[in-house]
Amino acid sequence: MIYLLTAAQTIWLPDQASTIASEVDSLFYFILYWTIFFLFLVTFVTFYFSWKYRDLKKKGLTTSFDHNALLEITWTLIPFILVMIVFFWGARTYIKMNVVPYGAMQVDVTAKQWKWYFHYDEGITSPDILTVPVNKPVKLEMQSPDVLHSLYIPDFRVKMDIIPNRYTQLWFEATEIGEFDIFCTEYCGKEHSKMLGKVRVVSEEDYQEFLSKSDEDMSLFALGELVYTKKHACNSCHTIDGSALIGPSLKGIWNKEVEHEEAKSEIVNSTYIKESILYPQEKIVKGYRNKIMSTYKGLISEREIKAIIKYIECLESNEKYEKCLEEEKGKKK
Ligand code: CUA
Repeated sequence: MIYLLTAAQTIWLPDQASTIASEVDSLFYFILYWTIFFLFLVTFVTFYFSWKYRDLKKKGLTTSFDHNALLEITWTLIPFILVMIVFFWGARTYIKMNVVPYGAMQVDVTAKQWKWYFHYDEGITSPDILTVPVNKPVKLEMQSPDVLHSLYIPDFRVKMDIIPNRYTQLWFEATEIGEFDIFCTEYCGKEHSKMLGKVRVVSEEDYQEFLSKSDEDMSLFALGELVYTKKHACNSCHTIDGSALIGPSLKGIWNKEVEHEEAKSEIVNSTYIKESILYPQEKIVKGYRNKIMSTYKGLISEREIKAIIKYIECLESNEKYEKCLEEEKGKKK
């Protein structure tokens, strides 16, 4: 009976889409219902007795009762048993959630202001979207190159902090095909609230297909745009319309001289751009001293770097951009 009550899904909790979800919810409801029960019981008894014995003193009567062993044992023993149930149940669930099952597949996660990166053994890095097969345990090994983040998947009832200079892990086994939200639940700077991702749970065949896909056949310009907008979200710090955001705009910088805080200047070319992506702290553009960019080393592929270089080259002027667009159209035909 209690199990039926507690395992039921309710309007205020998200889907139960992992193996651990119903167990977490059951424990939650067990504690919730007992808490509600005792809240009403104690409140009722308090009011009832204060009303019932309200004028004993006035009448000059006092009760001869000062002790009832049976009653005291009862109200000690029942809560004790309940607390022990919660303790062992909680410990069991906690251990289950923390011990990664043997044979779980691993995906490495990098949480970086303000994006998720999922790295697969097959050499694929997927930004913001974690694709996993259904009914298979998945272990996430997570790290952060900048600040504290936290990965939370409400439908799976799993959450773990990601701490700079340390690896943390979590595991889950999805039981439903579909898309589920990933949230960052640790304040990590300006765009924290936009640090959202998705888990795509797919069938085994779809998963194999996902692994075999690549962006090799995309043109550099198209890939560059994708890298800028979605893949690495350069657009959260750099605009392409000339206005300054956290970092300088990428518009019209190609082949121009840029001044540095170190009072040196340099021409923006492919070497310079590559260096800025991999070693962003080496040369800082004048006026951006306190604006932090952390390295994309290990996150961005050589081809993606080439693509972003091509993209910045196209942003040199409006005419050049139009030309790139036309070239792109020509290729598609
Ligand atoms: Cu990352 Cu909040």
